[in-house]
Amino acid sequence: MMLESTINEQKTEILPLIKKRWSPREFDPVKNICQEDLNLLFEAARWAPSSYNEQPWSFIVATKENSDEFKKIISILMTGNKAWASQASVLVLTVASLRSSHSGSENFHALYDLGASVANLTTEATELNICVHQMGGFHHDSAKVVFKLPEMYSPVSVLAIGYLPENADFEARARELFTKRKRKPLDEFVFRNAWGNPFFEMNDFQKN
Ligand SMILES: Cc1cc2nc3c(=O)[nH]c(=O)nc-3n(C[C@H](O)[C@H](O)[C@H](O)COP(=O)(O)O)c2cc1C
Repeated sequence: MMLESTINEQKTEILPLIKKRWSPREFDPVKNICQEDLNLLFEAARWAPSSYNEQPWSFIVATKENSDEFKKIISILMTGNKAWASQASVLVLTVASLRSSHSGSENFHALYDLGASVANLTTEATELNICVHQMGGFHHDSAKVVFKLPEMYSPVSVLAIGYLPENADFEARARELFTKRKRKPLDEFVFRNAWGNPFFEMNDFQKN
């Protein structure tokens, strides 16, 4: 019984910022993110942990005010992402350095570390009521050419960053979505002893 309530509490009472984050497909098309807040987002990214402290992440940032740069990132997006992502205030191409500077060989953890830095950025954004929608749906080869990426640097994702449209209630939408969105139950991916043995024994209620 104790275990059940503990698991259930953990399921619903996670850190409020984690609970609040979600990926919208609509943004306020005119509201810009000020330079100070943009700076905070990348400071948060900067302080992520990384293997050997390699910090293998880079970001190519385009704000909507600079329409040529903004269009350049739009141009590499896949069709399904173009329309809604164009409403964002800022688009960011994330890039991982695949070569380890300490050993010269391939850095197996580069993508992992970049993901951690984007998670930091996203959490900081959520604190500022700014939304981040990450995209893998872009043309990787075009990105390399358009942004003149050096060899061993790989484009990994595009981030659409912006505010929800005026009068959208961020907290209410997050609460509503949190109850609707689906996630795998813990017993499908947290194991003990060997692959597939659940660490948490869960009842049907806890799985929903
Ligand atoms: C690496 C990555 C790639 C993604 N690619 C796309 C994409 O191309 N288009 C899109 O609409 N959403 C994309 N998403 C958003 C996911 O669909 C979304 O995070 C997932 O459905 C969970 O929803 P939530 O972020 O609101 O919790 C991507 C997310 C990640 C982390």
